[in-house]
Amino acid sequence: MNFLSGSDSDLEIAVSLLMCGEVVALPTETVYGLAADATNETAVSKIFEAKGRPADNPLIIHISDLEMMKKYTEDIPSVAYRLAENFWPGPLTMILPKKNNIPSIVTGGLDTVAVRMPDNEIMKKVISMTGKPLAAPSANLSGSPSPTTARHVIDDMNGKISAVVDGGECRVGLESTVITFEGYDSVRILRPGFITPEQLRKVVDDVIIDKNISSDEVPEVNEVRSPGMKYTHYSPRARVVLVREGIEMFKKYVSEQTEQDSCSLIFDYDTENFPFKYMTYGSTPEEQAQQLFAKLREADRLGIKTLYVRAPRKEGVGLAVYNRLIRAAGYEVVES
Ligand code: TXA
Ligand code: MG
Repeated sequence: MNFLSGSDSDLEIAVSLLMCGEVVALPTETVYGLAADATNETAVSKIFEAKGRPADNPLIIHISDLEMMKKYTEDIPSVAYRLAENFWPGPLTMILPKKNNIPSIVTGGLDTVAVRMPDNEIMKKVISMTGKPLAAPSANLSGSPSPTTARHVIDDMNGKISAVVDGGECRVGLESTVITFEGYDSVRILRPGFITPEQLRKVVDDVIIDKNISSDEVPEVNEVRSPGMKYTHYSPRARVVLVREGIEMFKKYVSEQTEQDSCSLIFDYDTENFPFKYMTYGSTPEEQAQQLFAKLREADRLGIKTLYVRAPRKEGVGLAVYNRLIRAAGYEVVES
């Protein structure tokens, strides 16, 4: 595997690998992506192979301008252009009807395709240089936490892909907000992300939060609108228990547990007189988003077997953090 920097000469190597149908991990502002030319079926099949991803879980195509969106999708509602103007480049993914120039392997056989214009200088340059939409899921092994550094990508993908481009730590740290269009001026959020429902409501009349997102119930497979939502996700090897309590009740809960090699994951401001082993993941929802996946990976590196995580509030970006945590916890939630 080639380890590349963001220098112009290294990006030319990345681009020529992509043009030859190879898979290259690239930084985005959300998480690292495992990229291939979306119009090349063989190249895309290598993504599924490297990740061990089920064939019915569709990929996002990454574009660098609206011309690309028009070239590969159709029946684009006017609200999509409004959203693009407000949130692109950025962590918002829109599901649109696809044209035939996107092979069905990209979309897991669906007649829609997920489209995003990322906001990362390296990613933007590479898409423009190839002139192709790049299909890219998060660059982790299927089911494990998404990678937010090149090191995480190497840990999961060494020997399985052609190259990784190191763009440092991802700014957002959680995957994009995924939306689908429902009727006139109405969108449904299928996956919460850094772009919050409140932000979307400033641009779209009607914003529906899919009930699978905020619910603490295991989603029913036949109710899942986005194939990715039915798979266990973001899980470290450690058992994760999500504890929905204030810090005093959280301490009481941990004091009653007898598991060996356990650790707590709490907020920065919780640490005073905290009597058990702990790690922290920031104090604001934005910091929690940025740090969460790295901390889940860190827990595994330290050999932790059980991780008690203090749950964030499901507000703003906190909704996205909560959504990833409840899946990491396999819906194991503690609340008095
Ligand atoms: O921030 C991100 O979105 C990152 C970076 C690399 O861009 N990518 C990412 O991709 O998270 P991935 O493949 O890990 O997640 C894509 C999600 C999955 O839950 C998938 O099921 C859903 O989008 N999806 C893709 N195409 C879809 C479609 N046509 N209809 C419904 N859901 C779709
Ligand atoms: Mg993923």
